[in-house]
Amino acid sequence: MTFRMKTPFGFLDFFAGSGLVTEGMKGRFQAVWANDVCALKAKVYGANHSREHFHLGSIEDVRGSNLPRATLAWASFPCQDLSLAGKMLGIGASRSGLVWQWLRVLNEMPEMPPILVAENVIGLVSAKGGEHYRALHNALTARGYMVGAMVLNAALWVPQSRPRVFVIAVRKGADMEGLTSPEPNWLHPPSICSATSGLNDFVWWKMPLPPPRRSNLCDLIDFETPCDEEEKALKNVALIPRRHLQKLLNEKRHLKVAPGYRRTRSGNQVLELRFDGLAGCLRTPEGGSSRQYVVIPREDRIDTRLLTVREAARLMGAPDDYSLPGANDKHSLEGGYNEGYKAMGDAVAVPVAHYLSENLLAPLAARMSCGKEIQAA
Ligand SMILES: C[S@@+](CC[C@H](N)C(=O)[O-])C[C@H]1O[C@@H](n2cnc3c(N)ncnc32)[C@H](O)[C@@H]1O
Repeated sequence: MTFRMKTPFGFLDFFAGSGLVTEGMKGRFQAVWANDVCALKAKVYGANHSREHFHLGSIEDVRGSNLPRATLAWASFPCQDLSLAGKMLGIGASRSGLVWQWLRVLNEMPEMPPILVAENVIGLVSAKGGEHYRALHNALTARGYMVGAMVLNAALWVPQSRPRVFVIAVRKGADMEGLTSPEPNWLHPPSICSATSGLNDFVWWKMPLPPPRRSNLCDLIDFETPCDEEEKALKNVALIPRRHLQKLLNEKRHLKVAPGYRRTRSGNQVLELRFDGLAGCLRTPEGGSSRQYVVIPREDRIDTRLLTVREAARLMGAPDDYSLPGANDKHSLEGGYNEGYKAMGDAVAVPVAHYLSENLLAPLAARMSCGKEIQAA
C-alpha cells in the first residue's frame, strides 16, 4: 500500500511506558502527548523521545479537555487482569480496568480521535468466552466507531513468541476500502472469530502477510558476554527438565543457543528451554523471580547466563541506540538490570507497531478529510 505524506499524523500514546509504540509509529505518526504512571519508564521515554510531551502520573488524573487534538489514540492498557500469569480478574478489575479511564478521557476531548488502537494479551479475547473483548467492543461502537480485532505475533518480525490482540476502531463513515475483507483472514485466529461472532459494527481488517522474518536468535545474542561462573552454571543446568537437557545435548552440534525461562512450577524452580528458535514472551513478573536465560552448549560444558538488557531490547525490535538502564553500553541510563528488563518486559514490539502503522493506520488516516489539519507540527 503506498501513499504520500508530508508530515506524520499526531497521535496520543496512553500507557506509553518505555516508548516502544512511539518508536514503532515514528515516520507515519508522531506522538504529541504521552502518559504513564511509572517514573522509571518516564525516564526511558524521555531519553529516547521527548520529555516535553510526556505526562508522568495516573491516567485517573488526566483530563481529556487538556489534550491536544490528534488523529489517533493508542492504549496498551495494563494486562495483569487479563493474563494467565495474573489472576484473570477481568477487564473490570483495577489494572486492566484502566481501559475505562482511557475511554473517559477520550469522552472529555472536544473531538475524539478518529482512529483508536487498544492492545493487550490474548486473554482479552480468549478469557470468559470473549466477554472482556465484547465489553470493550460495545463501548467503542457506542461511541460511533467501527471496530475490528486481530492477533499479531511479534515472532513474525523478531525471534520472540509474543502474540498480542490489537483492537482497531475507526470513526463510522471513514473510507476503509481495500483495508477490510468480507471474512476472517490470517489476522483472525479462532479466538478472535469466536469472541467476535455476531457482534455489530465488526470489521475484518486486512493487511498483507509480512515477508519471512530475517533475524534469528543467534543474530541478536552477544556471544562475547561473560557467562556464569562454573558453580552457578552447574546449579542452573540442574534446574533444566531432563527431557530439555537431553534435547540440548542431542542437538548441541548445530544448536548455538537455547533460550531459557527460569520460573517456579509447582513450588520448584525450573529452567525451561525452547528449541523452536524463539525466545519465550518477555514479561515483567510481579514477584521478580522469573528470568529469561541464555543457555549455550559448548563442547565440554553448558554455559548459562541471564539474557542481557540489550538482548531483551533487540527481542522487542528496539534499535541498539535505544537508551536503557542496565544496558552496559554507551546508551546505558542510570539503573540496573532489573530496571532495564522491566522497561522492556511489557512493551509493544517495535516492528509490530511499525507494520500496523504502515499497512493500516496511516492509510486510514491519509483518507480522512480531517487528516491534514491534525498532522503533527
Ligand atoms: C502494557 S504496558 C505499556 C507499554 C508501552 N506501550 C510500551 O510499549 O513500552 C502498560 C503500562 O501502563 C502503565 N500504567 C499502569 N497503571 C497506570 C495508570 N494508573 N496510569 C497510567 N499508566 C499506567 C504501566 O506503567 C505500563 O507502562
